[in-house]
Amino acid sequence: MYRLFIEILFFFYKDPETVHRMVNVLLKALGAEPFRSLAQRMTEVKDRSLSSEVFGIGFKNPVGLAGGFDKDGEILPGLEALGFGFLEAGTVTWHAQTGNPRQRMFRFPQDMALINRMGFNNKGAEALKKRIATMKRIHIPLGISLSKSKITELKDAVDDYLASFKTLCRFGDYFVINVSSPNTPGLRQLQGKDMLMNICETLNAHRAQEEKRKPILVKIAPDMTWEAIDDVLDVIRRCAIDGIIATNTTVGREGLSVETFEAGGMSGKPIRDRATEVIRYIHTKNPLLPIVGVGGIFTAEDAYEKIRAGASLVQIYTGFIYGGPFAVQRINRGLAKLVKRDGFKNISEAVGKEVK
Ligand SMILES: Cc1cc2nc3c(=O)[nH]c(=O)nc-3n(C[C@H](O)[C@H](O)[C@H](O)COP(=O)(O)O)c2cc1C
Repeated sequence: MYRLFIEILFFFYKDPETVHRMVNVLLKALGAEPFRSLAQRMTEVKDRSLSSEVFGIGFKNPVGLAGGFDKDGEILPGLEALGFGFLEAGTVTWHAQTGNPRQRMFRFPQDMALINRMGFNNKGAEALKKRIATMKRIHIPLGISLSKSKITELKDAVDDYLASFKTLCRFGDYFVINVSSPNTPGLRQLQGKDMLMNICETLNAHRAQEEKRKPILVKIAPDMTWEAIDDVLDVIRRCAIDGIIATNTTVGREGLSVETFEAGGMSGKPIRDRATEVIRYIHTKNPLLPIVGVGGIFTAEDAYEKIRAGASLVQIYTGFIYGGPFAVQRINRGLAKLVKRDGFKNISEAVGKEVK
Protein backbone atom coordinates (compact mmCIF):
# COMPACT_ATOMS: atom_id res chain seq x y z
CA MET A 1 0.00 0.00 0.00
CA TYR A 2 2.69 2.45 1.10
CA ARG A 3 4.89 1.57 -1.90
CA LEU A 4 1.98 2.21 -4.28
CA PHE A 5 1.12 5.50 -2.57
CA ILE A 6 4.74 6.68 -2.79
CA GLU A 7 5.16 5.57 -6.41
CA ILE A 8 2.02 7.56 -7.37
CA LEU A 9 3.41 10.64 -5.63
CA PHE A 10 6.73 10.21 -7.42
CA PHE A 11 4.94 9.92 -10.73
CA PHE A 12 3.56 13.43 -10.23
CA TYR A 13 6.43 15.01 -8.33
CA LYS A 14 9.91 14.33 -9.64
CA ASP A 15 11.80 15.97 -6.78
CA PRO A 16 11.92 13.54 -3.80
CA GLU A 17 12.14 16.52 -1.45
CA THR A 18 8.63 17.61 -2.47
CA VAL A 19 7.30 14.15 -1.59
CA HIS A 20 9.30 14.22 1.64
CA ARG A 21 7.64 17.51 2.56
CA MET A 22 4.18 16.08 1.83
CA VAL A 23 4.90 13.08 4.03
CA ASN A 24 6.02 15.49 6.74
CA VAL A 25 2.61 17.18 6.68
CA LEU A 26 1.06 13.77 7.39
CA LEU A 27 3.60 13.09 10.12
CA LYS A 28 2.80 16.44 11.72
CA ALA A 29 -0.88 15.52 11.80
CA LEU A 30 0.02 12.12 13.24
CA GLY A 31 1.62 13.90 16.19
CA ALA A 32 -1.78 15.20 17.34
CA GLU A 33 -4.40 13.24 19.30
CA PRO A 34 -6.24 10.98 18.67
CA PHE A 35 -4.00 9.91 15.74
CA ARG A 36 -0.91 9.79 17.91
CA SER A 37 -2.23 7.22 20.41
CA LEU A 38 -3.85 5.22 17.66
CA ALA A 39 -0.65 5.03 15.59
CA GLN A 40 1.36 4.24 18.69
CA ARG A 41 -0.89 1.30 19.50
CA MET A 42 -0.59 0.04 15.93
CA THR A 43 3.20 0.28 15.67
CA GLU A 44 4.51 -0.37 19.18
CA VAL A 45 6.43 -3.60 19.74
CA LYS A 46 6.28 -4.31 23.45
CA ASP A 47 9.09 -6.75 24.12
CA ARG A 48 11.40 -6.48 27.11
CA SER A 49 14.19 -8.22 25.23
CA LEU A 50 14.56 -5.08 23.10
CA SER A 51 15.12 -2.63 25.95
CA SER A 52 18.58 -1.60 27.03
CA GLU A 53 20.64 1.08 28.72
CA VAL A 54 23.31 2.75 26.63
CA PHE A 55 25.53 5.69 27.72
CA GLY A 56 23.35 6.05 30.80
CA ILE A 57 20.05 6.38 28.91
CA GLY A 58 17.22 3.82 28.85
CA PHE A 59 15.91 2.76 25.42
CA LYS A 60 12.76 0.66 25.02
CA ASN A 61 13.92 -0.55 21.63
CA PRO A 62 17.20 -0.07 19.74
CA VAL A 63 15.86 1.38 16.47
CA GLY A 64 16.27 5.14 16.14
CA LEU A 65 15.73 7.76 13.49
CA ALA A 66 19.01 8.91 11.92
CA GLY A 67 20.10 12.55 11.80
CA GLY A 68 18.82 14.77 9.00
CA PHE A 69 15.23 13.56 8.67
CA ASP A 70 13.75 16.13 11.04
CA LYS A 71 16.37 18.85 11.03
CA ASP A 72 14.18 21.46 12.74
CA GLY A 73 12.37 19.13 15.14
CA GLU A 74 9.02 19.82 13.50
CA ILE A 75 7.52 16.33 13.46
CA LEU A 76 9.02 14.59 16.49
CA PRO A 77 5.70 13.54 18.17
CA GLY A 78 4.48 12.03 14.87
CA LEU A 79 7.74 10.14 14.44
CA GLU A 80 7.56 8.84 18.00
CA ALA A 81 4.15 7.39 17.16
CA LEU A 82 5.78 5.17 14.50
CA GLY A 83 7.53 3.04 17.11
CA PHE A 84 11.06 4.42 17.14
CA GLY A 85 13.14 3.75 20.26
CA PHE A 86 14.78 7.17 19.97
CA LEU A 87 14.91 10.17 17.66
CA GLU A 88 17.64 12.51 16.52
CA ALA A 89 16.77 16.09 15.62
CA GLY A 90 19.10 18.17 13.41
CA THR A 91 21.65 18.38 12.09
CA VAL A 92 21.30 21.96 13.19
CA THR A 93 23.83 24.75 12.81
CA TRP A 94 24.28 27.94 14.80
CA HIS A 95 23.20 30.14 11.87
CA ALA A 96 20.01 29.39 9.98
CA GLN A 97 20.81 28.41 6.41
CA THR A 98 18.90 27.49 3.29
CA GLY A 99 21.22 24.71 2.13
CA ASN A 100 22.14 23.95 -1.46
CA PRO A 101 19.88 24.85 -4.41
CA ARG A 102 17.21 22.28 -5.31
CA GLN A 103 17.13 19.57 -6.73
CA ARG A 104 19.44 18.21 -4.02
CA MET A 105 18.01 14.75 -3.27
CA PHE A 106 17.93 11.89 -5.78
CA ARG A 107 16.32 8.45 -5.58
CA PHE A 108 17.74 5.22 -6.97
CA PRO A 109 14.96 2.73 -6.14
CA GLN A 110 16.50 -0.11 -8.13
CA ASP A 111 19.49 0.05 -5.75
CA MET A 112 17.53 1.09 -2.63
CA ALA A 113 19.76 4.16 -2.45
CA LEU A 114 19.59 7.94 -2.18
CA ILE A 115 22.07 10.66 -3.02
CA ASN A 116 21.67 13.96 -1.21
CA ARG A 117 23.49 17.26 -1.08
CA MET A 118 21.05 19.07 1.16
CA GLY A 119 23.81 21.15 2.80
CA PHE A 120 22.23 21.35 6.27
CA ASN A 121 19.15 23.37 5.37
CA ASN A 122 17.87 24.32 8.84
CA LYS A 123 16.43 27.19 10.84
CA GLY A 124 19.30 27.35 13.33
CA ALA A 125 19.89 26.28 16.92
CA GLU A 126 17.77 29.01 18.56
CA ALA A 127 14.75 28.07 16.45
CA LEU A 128 15.18 24.38 17.33
CA LYS A 129 15.32 25.26 21.00
CA LYS A 130 12.06 27.21 20.79
CA ARG A 131 10.45 24.39 18.86
CA ILE A 132 11.43 21.69 21.36
CA ALA A 133 10.50 23.89 24.33
CA THR A 134 6.97 24.38 23.03
CA MET A 135 6.17 21.07 21.33
CA LYS A 136 4.11 18.22 22.75
CA ARG A 137 6.28 16.12 25.02
CA ILE A 138 7.84 12.97 23.60
CA HIS A 139 8.56 9.97 25.79
CA ILE A 140 11.61 8.49 24.11
CA PRO A 141 15.20 9.75 24.17
CA LEU A 142 15.93 12.70 21.91
CA GLY A 143 19.36 13.27 20.44
CA ILE A 144 20.38 16.54 18.84
CA SER A 145 22.93 16.62 16.06
CA LEU A 146 25.15 19.69 15.75
CA SER A 147 27.40 20.89 12.97
CA LYS A 148 29.18 23.93 11.60
CA SER A 149 27.36 26.70 9.72
CA LYS A 150 28.49 27.13 6.13
CA ILE A 151 29.41 30.79 6.66
CA THR A 152 31.64 29.99 9.63
CA GLU A 153 35.25 29.42 8.71
CA LEU A 154 36.77 26.08 9.55
CA LYS A 155 39.19 27.65 12.06
CA ASP A 156 36.19 29.06 13.99
CA ALA A 157 34.16 25.83 13.83
CA VAL A 158 34.49 25.19 17.55
CA ASP A 159 32.65 28.45 18.39
CA ASP A 160 29.78 27.40 16.16
CA TYR A 161 29.40 23.98 17.81
CA LEU A 162 29.73 25.52 21.25
CA ALA A 163 27.10 28.21 20.63
CA SER A 164 24.59 25.56 19.48
CA PHE A 165 25.50 23.21 22.34
CA LYS A 166 25.08 25.96 24.96
CA THR A 167 21.69 26.87 23.50
CA LEU A 168 20.37 23.33 23.26
CA CYS A 169 22.13 21.55 26.12
CA ARG A 170 19.02 21.28 28.31
CA PHE A 171 16.75 20.23 25.47
CA GLY A 172 18.35 16.99 24.28
CA ASP A 173 19.11 13.69 25.99
CA TYR A 174 22.33 13.23 24.01
CA PHE A 175 24.31 15.28 21.50
CA VAL A 176 26.10 14.45 18.28
CA ILE A 177 29.15 16.21 16.92
CA ASN A 178 28.57 15.78 13.21
CA VAL A 179 31.86 16.19 11.39
CA SER A 180 31.08 13.81 8.57
CA SER A 181 28.63 15.36 6.12
CA PRO A 182 30.15 15.54 2.64
CA ASN A 183 27.90 18.50 1.75
CA THR A 184 29.51 21.33 3.73
CA PRO A 185 32.83 22.24 2.10
CA GLY A 186 35.76 21.21 4.31
CA LEU A 187 33.61 19.80 7.12
CA ARG A 188 35.19 16.35 7.03
CA GLN A 189 38.56 17.94 7.84
CA LEU A 190 37.15 18.37 11.34
CA GLN A 191 37.46 14.59 11.72
CA GLY A 192 41.24 15.20 11.91
CA LYS A 193 42.85 14.75 15.31
CA ASP A 194 43.63 18.34 16.33
CA MET A 195 40.42 19.96 15.14
CA LEU A 196 38.22 17.21 16.59
CA MET A 197 40.12 17.33 19.86
CA ASN A 198 39.47 21.06 20.10
CA ILE A 199 35.71 20.63 19.55
CA CYS A 200 35.40 17.67 21.93
CA GLU A 201 37.41 19.34 24.69
CA THR A 202 35.42 22.55 24.40
CA LEU A 203 32.00 20.86 24.55
CA ASN A 204 33.26 18.64 27.35
CA ALA A 205 34.34 21.65 29.38
CA HIS A 206 30.95 23.26 28.87
CA ARG A 207 28.92 20.21 29.88
CA ALA A 208 30.89 20.00 33.11
CA GLN A 209 29.27 23.32 34.09
CA GLU A 210 25.75 22.12 33.35
CA GLU A 211 23.49 20.60 36.01
CA LYS A 212 23.15 17.31 34.14
CA ARG A 213 25.95 15.66 32.18
CA LYS A 214 24.63 14.95 28.68
CA PRO A 215 26.27 12.19 26.60
CA ILE A 216 28.18 13.41 23.55
CA LEU A 217 28.78 11.22 20.49
CA VAL A 218 30.84 11.77 17.35
CA LYS A 219 29.43 10.82 13.93
CA ILE A 220 31.95 9.65 11.36
CA ALA A 221 32.05 9.03 7.60
CA PRO A 222 32.35 5.59 6.02
CA ASP A 223 35.12 6.88 3.76
CA MET A 224 37.80 7.17 6.45
CA THR A 225 40.96 5.07 6.49
CA TRP A 226 41.57 2.78 9.49
CA GLU A 227 44.37 5.13 10.61
CA ALA A 228 41.99 8.10 10.55
CA ILE A 229 39.42 6.10 12.56
CA ASP A 230 42.18 5.24 15.06
CA ASP A 231 42.80 8.97 15.48
CA VAL A 232 39.09 9.60 16.15
CA LEU A 233 39.05 6.77 18.69
CA ASP A 234 42.05 8.29 20.39
CA VAL A 235 40.32 11.67 20.68
CA ILE A 236 37.17 9.96 21.97
CA ARG A 237 39.17 8.16 24.66
CA ARG A 238 41.07 11.26 25.72
CA CYS A 239 37.99 13.48 25.88
CA ALA A 240 35.68 10.93 27.56
CA ILE A 241 33.26 11.11 24.62
CA ASP A 242 30.40 8.69 25.27
CA GLY A 243 29.96 6.98 21.92
CA ILE A 244 30.31 7.00 18.16
CA ILE A 245 27.80 6.98 15.32
CA ALA A 246 28.97 4.96 12.33
CA THR A 247 28.33 5.97 9.63
CA ASN A 248 27.20 8.98 7.64
CA THR A 249 26.75 8.88 3.83
CA THR A 250 29.57 8.05 1.43
CA VAL A 251 31.09 10.07 -1.39
CA GLY A 252 31.74 6.77 -3.21
CA ARG A 253 29.35 5.37 -5.82
CA GLU A 254 30.07 1.67 -5.44
CA GLY A 255 26.95 -0.47 -5.49
CA LEU A 256 25.00 1.88 -7.71
CA SER A 257 23.87 0.15 -10.89
CA VAL A 258 23.50 3.34 -12.92
CA GLU A 259 26.05 6.00 -13.72
CA THR A 260 25.37 9.35 -12.08
CA PHE A 261 27.29 12.59 -11.88
CA GLU A 262 25.15 14.02 -9.08
CA ALA A 263 27.37 15.25 -6.25
CA GLY A 264 26.52 14.44 -2.64
CA GLY A 265 26.45 11.66 -0.10
CA MET A 266 25.05 8.26 -0.96
CA SER A 267 23.00 6.28 1.56
CA GLY A 268 21.01 3.06 1.65
CA LYS A 269 21.83 -0.47 0.60
CA PRO A 270 25.12 0.31 -1.19
CA ILE A 271 26.70 1.52 2.10
CA ARG A 272 25.35 -1.29 4.30
CA ASP A 273 28.41 -3.53 4.30
CA ARG A 274 30.95 -0.73 4.59
CA ALA A 275 29.11 0.74 7.60
CA THR A 276 29.06 -2.71 9.24
CA GLU A 277 32.77 -3.13 8.54
CA VAL A 278 33.50 0.21 10.24
CA ILE A 279 31.37 -0.79 13.24
CA ARG A 280 33.22 -4.12 13.51
CA TYR A 281 36.57 -2.34 13.37
CA ILE A 282 35.62 0.16 16.09
CA HIS A 283 34.22 -2.58 18.34
CA THR A 284 37.38 -4.66 17.96
CA LYS A 285 39.54 -1.66 18.81
CA ASN A 286 37.41 -0.47 21.72
CA PRO A 287 34.82 -3.05 22.86
CA LEU A 288 33.55 -0.77 25.64
CA LEU A 289 32.69 2.19 23.43
CA PRO A 290 28.94 2.39 22.66
CA ILE A 291 28.34 2.40 18.90
CA VAL A 292 25.21 3.58 17.11
CA GLY A 293 25.17 1.66 13.83
CA VAL A 294 23.66 3.31 10.77
CA GLY A 295 23.86 2.73 7.04
CA GLY A 296 21.72 0.58 4.77
CA ILE A 297 19.40 -0.94 7.37
CA PHE A 298 16.15 -2.12 5.75
CA THR A 299 15.35 -5.32 7.63
CA ALA A 300 15.70 -6.86 11.08
CA GLU A 301 18.56 -8.98 9.70
CA ASP A 302 20.40 -5.83 8.59
CA ALA A 303 19.96 -4.30 12.05
CA TYR A 304 20.96 -7.51 13.82
CA GLU A 305 24.11 -7.80 11.71
CA LYS A 306 25.18 -4.35 12.90
CA ILE A 307 24.37 -5.23 16.51
CA ARG A 308 26.38 -8.43 16.33
CA ALA A 309 29.24 -6.48 14.76
CA GLY A 310 29.25 -4.22 17.84
CA ALA A 311 26.45 -1.65 17.65
CA SER A 312 24.37 -1.16 20.82
CA LEU A 313 21.76 0.88 18.95
CA VAL A 314 20.91 1.37 15.28
CA GLN A 315 19.38 4.16 13.22
CA ILE A 316 17.60 4.27 9.87
CA TYR A 317 16.98 6.94 7.28
CA THR A 318 16.87 5.54 3.73
CA GLY A 319 15.26 2.31 5.00
CA PHE A 320 12.50 4.43 6.53
CA ILE A 321 11.97 6.36 3.29
CA TYR A 322 11.65 3.19 1.21
CA GLY A 323 10.06 1.04 3.92
CA GLY A 324 7.32 3.41 5.11
CA PRO A 325 5.43 3.84 8.37
CA PHE A 326 5.67 0.20 9.50
CA ALA A 327 9.41 -0.17 8.82
CA VAL A 328 10.39 0.31 12.46
CA GLN A 329 7.76 -2.14 13.68
CA ARG A 330 8.95 -4.77 11.17
CA ILE A 331 12.56 -4.36 12.27
CA ASN A 332 11.69 -4.50 15.98
CA ARG A 333 9.47 -7.56 15.61
CA GLY A 334 12.17 -9.33 13.62
CA LEU A 335 14.87 -8.35 16.11
CA ALA A 336 12.87 -9.77 19.02
CA LYS A 337 12.61 -13.08 17.14
CA LEU A 338 16.32 -13.16 16.27
CA VAL A 339 17.32 -12.44 19.87
CA LYS A 340 15.17 -15.35 21.08
CA ARG A 341 16.34 -17.65 18.28
CA ASP A 342 19.92 -17.17 19.37
CA GLY A 343 19.18 -17.76 23.05
CA PHE A 344 19.81 -14.22 24.29
CA LYS A 345 17.60 -12.81 27.03
CA ASN A 346 18.20 -9.28 25.89
CA ILE A 347 19.43 -7.48 22.78
CA SER A 348 22.39 -6.07 24.73
CA GLU A 349 23.76 -9.62 25.09
CA ALA A 350 24.01 -9.86 21.29
CA VAL A 351 26.21 -6.75 20.94
CA GLY A 352 29.51 -7.74 19.36
CA LYS A 353 28.71 -11.46 19.39
CA GLU A 354 29.48 -12.32 15.80
CA VAL A 355 29.19 -15.84 14.51
CA LYS A 356 32.58 -16.45 12.95
C1 LIG B 1 18.42 13.30 2.64
C2 LIG B 1 19.40 12.98 3.73
C3 LIG B 1 19.78 13.98 4.62
C4 LIG B 1 20.68 13.68 5.66
N1 LIG B 1 21.02 14.66 6.55
C5 LIG B 1 21.83 14.35 7.59
C6 LIG B 1 22.09 15.30 8.60
O1 LIG B 1 21.61 16.44 8.56
N2 LIG B 1 22.88 14.93 9.63
C7 LIG B 1 23.41 13.67 9.74
O2 LIG B 1 24.11 13.38 10.71
N3 LIG B 1 23.17 12.76 8.79
C8 LIG B 1 22.39 13.05 7.74
N4 LIG B 1 22.12 12.11 6.81
C9 LIG B 1 22.78 10.79 6.92
C10 LIG B 1 21.93 9.79 7.70
O3 LIG B 1 21.71 10.20 9.01
C11 LIG B 1 22.61 8.41 7.72
O4 LIG B 1 23.81 8.50 8.43
C12 LIG B 1 22.93 7.89 6.32
O5 LIG B 1 21.92 8.22 5.41
C13 LIG B 1 23.10 6.36 6.32
O6 LIG B 1 21.93 5.72 6.79
P1 LIG B 1 20.80 5.11 5.81
O7 LIG B 1 21.51 4.23 4.83
O8 LIG B 1 19.86 4.39 6.73
O9 LIG B 1 20.18 6.28 5.15
C14 LIG B 1 21.24 12.38 5.77
C15 LIG B 1 20.83 11.38 4.86
C16 LIG B 1 19.94 11.66 3.86
C17 LIG B 1 19.55 10.56 2.91
